[in-house]
Amino acid sequence: MAVDLKPETWTISSNEALNLSLVDGEGAIIFKPTFTYPIYGESEQIFGYKNLQIFLAFDSVTFKPFVNVKYDSKLSDEIEDVQKLLLDKLPKNDVVVKDEVAWIKSFTEEQHDFTLPDESSLVENYVIDGQDYVIYRVSLQTPTIKKLHRRMQIFTLLFIESASYIDESDASWEIFITFNKNTKQCIGYTTTYQFWRYLGAASFDSADSGDQKCRAKISQFLIMPPYQGKGHGKKLYQSIAKQWVSDPSVIEITVEDPNESFDDLRDRCDFERIMNDKLLLDCPNELPINPDWINRKQQTLKLEKRQFSRILEMFLLYQKS
Ligand code: ACO
Repeated sequence: MAVDLKPETWTISSNEALNLSLVDGEGAIIFKPTFTYPIYGESEQIFGYKNLQIFLAFDSVTFKPFVNVKYDSKLSDEIEDVQKLLLDKLPKNDVVVKDEVAWIKSFTEEQHDFTLPDESSLVENYVIDGQDYVIYRVSLQTPTIKKLHRRMQIFTLLFIESASYIDESDASWEIFITFNKNTKQCIGYTTTYQFWRYLGAASFDSADSGDQKCRAKISQFLIMPPYQGKGHGKKLYQSIAKQWVSDPSVIEITVEDPNESFDDLRDRCDFERIMNDKLLLDCPNELPINPDWINRKQQTLKLEKRQFSRILEMFLLYQKS
């Protein structure tokens, strides 16, 4: 039988081919990735398979991964191995391939021993739609969190543009992570890092080790797709800001490469904090606003220059309306 060589028959968008799912006791929530170029290349096209479907599923508690690749035919043996490309981004020797029964058995066993982080690292709890949620602040070196993070980090490639894996061996990484308190499902997380800031020789020489200042950075911020748009992102951001605003060693809160949705979330949260706490009541009543006041205020509020300008503009518009 002649092989059909029409390229379109053998080409599929990798965003279309990849099916993601989170599985719980009630079934699977299935969704599509936003990006697949970190796995399948810039064009996000896969060539050489007919009717290709790639399934990447996670247990919603342990995030134990499962991969299954299905297709009707493959053009030749030289065609790129889509399963290998995916496995390269997942933790080694941890993924169950094809054998769904073995995967279910494996995560069911793991779930028995799965515990939330220690109560001493609890920073927030809240209720949405009658469900209790908890946010923990934990070092990425904590074994259970490291394991969970290794499994979940592929979501940053799939949902955050230009994301790459962080160096987990660097002990300075901390993670703020939200769980459903009862089901123990991870709702979302953000990786954070604190950079010591050199404030000049005099300050450096006089400061003892307990009096050093740092910039705190939000690196990757992600709410798992099935739980987005319900207020969890807002709660997560607010709890980080609360921790760092009250920490005298943190002088500025920064964000690595925020996208439009994150900017929107941050603007709303920062503006709400500033209005609730009446932090701009001393804003000068004449334009242009005195740059010294702007400088001082930006530092007091621990906001980056760009972010403070956005909030100030929102405040001035709000006052006018
Ligand atoms: N566009 C406009 N507004 C938005 C969007 C959006 N895409 N997403 C949330 N908002 C607004 C909401 O309207 C809400 O405002 P309100 O409380 O006044 O109604 C507010 O932001 C908070 O909404 P949440 O429900 O708390 O947001 P969510 O839980 O969905 O989290 C987030 C938002 C983090 C952007 C989430 O959708 C997500 O993880 N997306 C995919 C990954 C991503 O883009 N991460 C940020 C990358 S940048 C970085 O990592 C630093």
